[in-house]
Amino acid sequence: MIDLLVKNAVLADGRKVDIACVGGKIADVSPSITAEARETIDAKGYLVSPPFIDAHFHMDATLSLGMPRYNQSGTLLEGIRLWGELKPILTHEAVIERAMRYCDLAVSQGLLAIRTHVDVCDDRLLCVEALIEVRKHIKPYIDLQLVAFPQDGFYRDPHAKKNLLRALDLGVDVVGGIPHGERTMADGARSMTELCEIAAERGLLVDIHCDESDDPWSRHVEALVYETQRLGLQGRVVGSHLTSMHSMDNYYASKLIGLMAEARLHATPNPLINITLQGRHDTYPKRRGMTRVPELRAAGINVSFGHDCVMDPWYPLGQGDMLEAASMGIHVGLMTSPEQMAWAVDAVTVNPAKAMHLEGYGLEKGCNADFVVLQAKNPVEALRLKANRLKVVKRGRVIAETPERVAALHLDGRPGTVNGADYAPKV
Ligand code: FE2
Repeated sequence: MIDLLVKNAVLADGRKVDIACVGGKIADVSPSITAEARETIDAKGYLVSPPFIDAHFHMDATLSLGMPRYNQSGTLLEGIRLWGELKPILTHEAVIERAMRYCDLAVSQGLLAIRTHVDVCDDRLLCVEALIEVRKHIKPYIDLQLVAFPQDGFYRDPHAKKNLLRALDLGVDVVGGIPHGERTMADGARSMTELCEIAAERGLLVDIHCDESDDPWSRHVEALVYETQRLGLQGRVVGSHLTSMHSMDNYYASKLIGLMAEARLHATPNPLINITLQGRHDTYPKRRGMTRVPELRAAGINVSFGHDCVMDPWYPLGQGDMLEAASMGIHVGLMTSPEQMAWAVDAVTVNPAKAMHLEGYGLEKGCNADFVVLQAKNPVEALRLKANRLKVVKRGRVIAETPERVAALHLDGRPGTVNGADYAPKV
């Protein structure tokens, strides 16, 4: 017997299908499935997408906006200082409470896998212990990966190395770093060597906050790809942010992108936050805060868009909507061709699944029965509308739903209702 049957679904490639779920897996994806099911959903010709994924987040800081004060300059550096003021007054319970509330919001948005960095520059490892507990609580509905992140610098903070290793021993999944936060360029490069060696020894993935700076000479990604090659970590390493590439000399960037492709580095820019953090030292013109996404794509590099922050010392807005991150990505990256806009939805679904090495992700037979019914006719329309999440399904069970959004219109001689999804182009 089918546990859950979705009728009249449309997939990203335009196929009209039904989807049958059995035992938490997708058992069949076919044009017409008639077998009996315990529960049936009518997708009414709307798009069914695999769940959204956020490949770059900071769950230990989320929903702390205004504590203990607001970021007045809007810069990365004031955000880091502000977080430093907040850290000593955090409690285990409060971090868990905020993270759990964020995860409720995430589920309502169909965001079912998150890679979060967790600050290890704290001798108590309070955030690490809290998020390990959160990971356990939410396991039935969100895949949470934790990255050991030395926010104050792997060398610059005298206890960071010891605490990062302790965090990994406690079960943190991924090795993080912040080379542009070290005291010197040389220390930044050296941190890439040591952190990649730790990952290679322990068989772990790597995700580095790399060159989140407007300084075109911030070139630590060069050291990161060198170590990736030297240690055989190809395909296992993510360069996050990479904003300095925006400001680099074109000739150097063209060499660098080739090296990144060779090392099969994954790239995770975070357009929502970096369009507000970067360019703050500029007068006019003010630089855009994003790495060279079209060029990275053209070189075959797997690019995902992360959300990074929601209502915290670095970013005051956000609601866990990965379509908002993707939408900002195409705006900042000047990527508005139909192909580029459709790709932007991949950048918050299938691409981060690859970067995070998630198993069983997708809408083919045999994949986990995890997906979202969106109130949109195709991926570009989902992006345009920041589409309503009608149903969120995890392992074949509906875990969140939102009513179809249709406005009543009270105008003489005009239709009685408006549904944004009806405005899809006919071509
Ligand atoms: Fe970040």
